[in-house]
This record gives sequence, C-alpha cells and structure tokens, in this order.
Amino acid sequence: MKTAYLKFCPDKTLSHISKEIYGHFSEHLGRCIYNGIYVGKDSKIPNTGGIRNDVVSSLKEIGLPVLRWPGGCFADEYHWKNGVGDKRTPMLNSNWGGIVEDNSFGTHEFFSLCEMLDCEAYLAANMGSGSVSELSRWLEYITYDGDSPSALERKSNGREKPWRLKYLGIGNESWGCGGSMSAQSYCDTYRHYQTFAKNYSTPDMMKIACGPNADDYSWTETLMQNLKPWHTDAISLHYYTIPTGDWQHKGSATSFSDEEYYDTIRSTLYMDEIITKHSAIMDKYDPESKIKLAVDEWGCWYDVEEGTNPGFLYQQNTMRDAIVAAINLNIFNNHSSRVSMANLAQVMNVLQAVLLSEGEKLVKTPTWYVFKLFLTHHDSELVKTSLAAPEIGDNLPMLSLSLSKKGESFLLSVSNCSLDEDCSLLLDPEHGCIKNAQAQILTADKDVYNDFDSPERVSISDYDGFSSDSAFTLTVPKRSVVSLSFEV
Ligand code: AHR
Repeated sequence: MKTAYLKFCPDKTLSHISKEIYGHFSEHLGRCIYNGIYVGKDSKIPNTGGIRNDVVSSLKEIGLPVLRWPGGCFADEYHWKNGVGDKRTPMLNSNWGGIVEDNSFGTHEFFSLCEMLDCEAYLAANMGSGSVSELSRWLEYITYDGDSPSALERKSNGREKPWRLKYLGIGNESWGCGGSMSAQSYCDTYRHYQTFAKNYSTPDMMKIACGPNADDYSWTETLMQNLKPWHTDAISLHYYTIPTGDWQHKGSATSFSDEEYYDTIRSTLYMDEIITKHSAIMDKYDPESKIKLAVDEWGCWYDVEEGTNPGFLYQQNTMRDAIVAAINLNIFNNHSSRVSMANLAQVMNVLQAVLLSEGEKLVKTPTWYVFKLFLTHHDSELVKTSLAAPEIGDNLPMLSLSLSKKGESFLLSVSNCSLDEDCSLLLDPEHGCIKNAQAQILTADKDVYNDFDSPERVSISDYDGFSSDSAFTLTVPKRSVVSLSFEV
C-alpha cells in the first residue's frame, strides 16, 4: 500500500465554498425536461403540476442549490413568450434532435420547480436570436411586483407575486452555437444587453457573461479588458471530460479499458490547469476577485447509448463518473476564491446525469452519491492543506482531495483514482488531534453502474477504515470516494 501525508492548520481557512458550486443544469435536450423532470399533469407518474415528485425529492436529498435553464445551445433559440399562458406556441428544437416541443414547460413551470426544490434560479437568456427588449420584458414579467404591462400579464397567467431570480446568464457559448461571435463583438453586445437587464425583485442578482471554451485564454483576456464589475459579476467556463479527446469517437460510457479510464482521469484533471490559468488572467485585471468564475457546464461526455437518439445525449454513469465528479468538485472547492458556482451537465437523462429514468422507474447514478457525500461542503470554509501524495503511471496524482470547515466540524473528501492500489493517508493537524471521526465510502469496479433492475449496485456505505493509534491514518481504497468528518 502506498502512503500519502496531509498537513493542515485547523485555524487557517482560505475562502468560502459557496453551495452553488454544487449546482445543476437542465436544458431542453433529450429527456431532461420533457419525459424527465416534467411528465405533464395527466401522467400516471406521481407529479405536482406535471413535475415528478420522486425527481424533486431525490434532488432535495442532495441539497441542489441552483438550477440553470433553459439551455445550453437551446437558450439562444428560446423565446419565452411562447412558453407562458394558456395557449402555448410550439417550437422547433433545432439543436437537439430536431424535434417539435409544445412549450408546456415554460417560465411558470421552471420557477415552480425551483420553489419545490428550494433552490436559486439561473436563467440563460437568449442573446443569439433574441433582442434586448425581449430580455428586459422577460425580467419585468418575472420580477416586477406592481402593475406594469408584463407584470399584469404574469398575474393574469396565475402568478400574483414576482419570483426571485438570483442568476442571469446573457448568451450561451456565444463563441459557438450562441452566435459564433468574436470575443470583442460579444463584449460590445453583452454590455448593451446587460444595461437593460433590470431585476426588480432581487437586488443582488448576479449577471454572468459568456466565458471561454475550455482553454481559450484569449477569450478571457478580452472579456477582462472590456467587462468591469459594474457590467458583470461572473464569467462562465465550459469544459467537458472526453475520454478519447476525439469528439467524433468519444468512447463508451460503460465499456472501456484501463487505459481509457486513466485517460478520462487525465482529461478531468486538466480542469485544474485551465481554472488556474483563467484565474491568473482574471487576477491581472481584478485582483480583488470581484468577478467570479462560474463553471456552468462540466462533466463526462461519451458516445450515446446504442439505440438511442444521437441528439438526446443519453449515457450511462459508472464508478468512473463518480471519480470524475469527485475530482472536479474537489478542484472547484480548492479554487473557491474565484469559482463561486458550477453546474453539472445535466441533471437528468442527459450526459453525466445524477438521475436516469425509464417510464416510472428512477435511478440514482454513482454521480448522485458523490453529491450526497460532499453535502457538508456546502457553504463551508476551505482549509489550507499541504499534500504529499504518490503518483500512478506517468504524472497522474493518485489522490484528489479537499478539506473544509463548518463551525467545529471538518469534512475531508478524498478520492483514490488508482485501479489497483490502496493508499494510506496520514492526517497531520498543526495542532490538536483528530477526534469524533466518521466516514462513508463509495466504491465499486470501474465500470459498475446502477440500472433499472439493479438500482443500488453503487451506493454509499459507512466506513471504518481509519485508526488513530500513533498518527491518524485513513485508508483510501483503490477506485473509491471517501468522506471523513471529524473535529480537532
Ligand atoms: O450540455 C450540452 C451542450 O453542451 C450545451 O447545450 C452547450 O452549451 C454545450 O456545448
């Protein structure tokens, strides 16, 4: 067994870990909204106003703090007026499957969902094919309390009080599906749109500008030169884990070699490098970190499951995805001085989903369990650590971890990505000793997944693999995610 050392100072905290780092993303794509979250009021599946009750309770269990909607690429073709009132106008979803949607899930249904989940709403507004006035009327419709024309329309559609809207993104992937813009032209258009993006119910609304694609550092440089804290509160970042690095042949979600597994881990770890480099650029222009980074799309993207619509992006989710989720969430925690929000793509039936459904059956994926293990990190303080850990193969760190503190309690989340070696982790606080330790674990062979016949092949168990004889030592088994809570 290999050994790793973790030193930390129990009193030295570095930054706030916002619970919004544990956010999710719901797009009109495949079976995420329709036949996923939303089954319609007349469905046999138990629902409230068309929204599945079991989906709501499963997402509440992981404390889902913020939900992004309606896209993705879909957002830049979405016209909100078609999705309110008794008579909805259908639309073509040209990005995802070329299907016609009836717009029965719209603004009212989305905000009802957020109220049921008790989460913040994050709207992605249409800059690509919309207009400034369409956006400003939408915000008036959602947030104005008095008798303005749009607020009266909302009231006549059954909602008296305005909703709370905490996050507004303007344009999605404007360098690609959102308009193929140059960074400079995006900045000019963004500044225009944001001027009219007035929120009447939520004075602390955060405006989020479309940030870079993966490692496009020049996009970030141009944004930071042109956008000031009075224009934007955050810029987004999109980065997906593609095991093969080839968008045409991304690899299977469930059938992969050890080599492909390690390539997936390496591709995920690149997130750390790109956040570090984007943050360094942001530091030059904004040393006080007033403008945040919102990683509002992340996760594994594989080839779709055989026999499913290629435009629906439906994929299974194995123990490998759990390790990927743990690595990314630890990276976001460790960068929480700049990263204030992240949104896994996507919440249900699409890409690295936390929930999969088939008819009335619902399955929690291994990724769902990682969000459950990391719950105590929500709104905690990041603790300064120094880790000396072994490597596996060429330059691949064996462990990924983060340590946070809330009141007197600490939470260490640690993942061992090795497929064949356990690791013994010695915890060495600068003062005091570790007490009241409790641990839980998620572990399985790399390609094990939960399905509709065996929904709990991968799930959390209590774990007693630690001892405090001379030094406090935690055994982190191969391909596992462990959460350890303790006091000092
Ligand atoms: O999450 C799927 C798609 O990935 C989104 O619509 C788009 O923003 C990104 O390219």
